[in-house]
Amino acid sequence: MNELDSLVESATQLFAQSATPADLENAKAQFLGKSGRVTELMKGMAQLSVEEKKSRGAAINVAKQAIEAALTARRQALADAELQVQLKAEALDVSLPGRQRGQGGLHPVSLTLERIEGIFGSMGFDVAQGPEIETDWFNFTALNTPEDHPARSMHDTFYVEGGTDTAPNLLRTHTSPMQIRHAVQHVKKNRALLDAGQPMPEIRVIAPGRTYRVDSDATHSPMFHQCEGLWIGENVSFKDLKVIFTAFCRTFFESDDLVLRFRPSFFPFTEPSAEIDIQFQTGPLAGRWLEVAGSGQVHPNVVRNMGLDPEKYIGFAFGMGPDRLTMLRYGVNDLRLFFDGDIRFLSQFQ
Ligand code: DAH
Repeated sequence: MNELDSLVESATQLFAQSATPADLENAKAQFLGKSGRVTELMKGMAQLSVEEKKSRGAAINVAKQAIEAALTARRQALADAELQVQLKAEALDVSLPGRQRGQGGLHPVSLTLERIEGIFGSMGFDVAQGPEIETDWFNFTALNTPEDHPARSMHDTFYVEGGTDTAPNLLRTHTSPMQIRHAVQHVKKNRALLDAGQPMPEIRVIAPGRTYRVDSDATHSPMFHQCEGLWIGENVSFKDLKVIFTAFCRTFFESDDLVLRFRPSFFPFTEPSAEIDIQFQTGPLAGRWLEVAGSGQVHPNVVRNMGLDPEKYIGFAFGMGPDRLTMLRYGVNDLRLFFDGDIRFLSQFQ
């Protein structure tokens, strides 16, 4: 083997022994670096004649290319090995079972609201949403609630910025303002019919949502839910209210023998007014009268504020508490549990 062949061989060997890229770069320097052995051979040609330089130079170049090829091959081999190690270290076992993830669900009060919407929807009621920040007009005045009514006091109501000095804006204390808001829209939509003296399609709507009062104990929360109901037409009576509300309660509580009682009461926006009590015939609450809603025939002043003639249009309204309905349905005795956000409580309803 000539000198150049053995140079190539020792380079190849040294490269093969280099276990890391850094070792390999050091080995490369010994042959191809500034004072490496190939470079030294090149320098050694200075004394040679032109003819000799040609043939010697060509031979050295062949050796140099062989060394470079060996270097490239080894670099590639080390990179491949490194990739294999990395792949192995980061390997995913796709056959492993996944980590358990908690499954979310609807809040019990949301479940109740869905139920209410489903039942009244099946009886031809629309569902309307309205603002939680209300004006004095919609929350009180339009609902025939006089200036000196206790509900207007600071102790009962969260007043907020906006509105006027004498009629500040507030967080709605009930969903009843939606009676006016929805009816006004309905009347606007049917303006042409009304102007032509034609019968207007009945207003049949429920309006669920959040409401606010300065109140906090086991059965009152400053934020709570209500669901308003309104049915206005030319021929709607208390009898209709009794029929639909009985059907609603029996479906909601899945209790066919549940009975209702209308207890005379007072609300500024209805006349006459009644509290609706229910009584279960079986189960843990059997025999007790439980109050579930306020109701009444819509007051003529309120009908007028809807833009309708109270001589022609009549109807009834009701307001119930979905939080209370949820408590009764599931046997929960503290309202605050609904709003504490404790997952141990909430997960029981999934
Ligand atoms: N808005 C009343 C309240 O918050 C509940 C209510 C009573 C609503 C009678 C009505 C109704 O629509 O007719 O106490």
